[in-house]
Amino acid sequence: MSTILDGKAIAARIRQQVAERAGKLAMRGITPCVAVILVGENPASEVYVRNKERACQEAGIAFRLTRLPASAVETEILEAIRGLNADPAVHGVLVQLPLPGHINENRCIDAIDAAKDVDGFHPWNAGLVARGEAVLAPCTPLGVMRLLAESGIPVAGKHAVVVGRGAVGRPLADMLVRADATVTVCHSKTVDLAAHTREAELLFACAGVPRMIKADMVRPGAVVVDVGIHRADDGKLCGDVDFDAVRQVAGAITPVPGGIGPMTVVMLLANTVQAAGG
Ligand code: GUN
Repeated sequence: MSTILDGKAIAARIRQQVAERAGKLAMRGITPCVAVILVGENPASEVYVRNKERACQEAGIAFRLTRLPASAVETEILEAIRGLNADPAVHGVLVQLPLPGHINENRCIDAIDAAKDVDGFHPWNAGLVARGEAVLAPCTPLGVMRLLAESGIPVAGKHAVVVGRGAVGRPLADMLVRADATVTVCHSKTVDLAAHTREAELLFACAGVPRMIKADMVRPGAVVVDVGIHRADDGKLCGDVDFDAVRQVAGAITPVPGGIGPMTVVMLLANTVQAAGG
């Protein structure tokens, strides 16, 4: 049976540290503030944004929400971004994704001031992640790396396998390489995925496919990190890992919920305090 890596507890500890940093900024007359633009009424986005707002309140970070209708055109979103870029009271700007299909997401991300890009999605910040010099790095891979560090799990010299090459998998692979892991990135065109995942000492599931990582795909004793979050047919939340079966094989595993999700949110808080100069 594996150790459960309790992201919720680790995130709560980090939130305390972030709150202390926010408190020090407050003594200098600065209230760290993140502004979120939410377009339309995607139910998952509504939940994510509410979670971010609650976490901000708990850490002494101001939270501003700009809501735009699903019918909003790109210029309206760009105008909202430019207004927040220019507002000195706002330190972080985040456009909640996904945007409605008629909007070009990259053009919106590119419009965010890189110094306020607390999601770490701007190409400038993505480039700095690849160079190992990021000040604002994407929250989910940052949360994964922090969870490993806080759990005392060594990365250097380990064989890490990342399943997924999207907005999480790619920067995560960069960070793992920077941390001296030997990294394999697998994706939907990978031939014999299980042959690769079975080699992993550290296995990262970020493909966005519910419960796709099965017990026979995991090397006994491996550390398994689940980045996915899905609503299963039975109404329960699940990740990309078949948790009940894989936990019998893995050495350590993150649960869903309560694993990487809370780590992502607390990294957003940390990035916001960072962007505010704390
Ligand atoms: N949608 C799902 N996850 C994220 C995230 O981390 N940031 C933004 N902006 N949108 C998301």
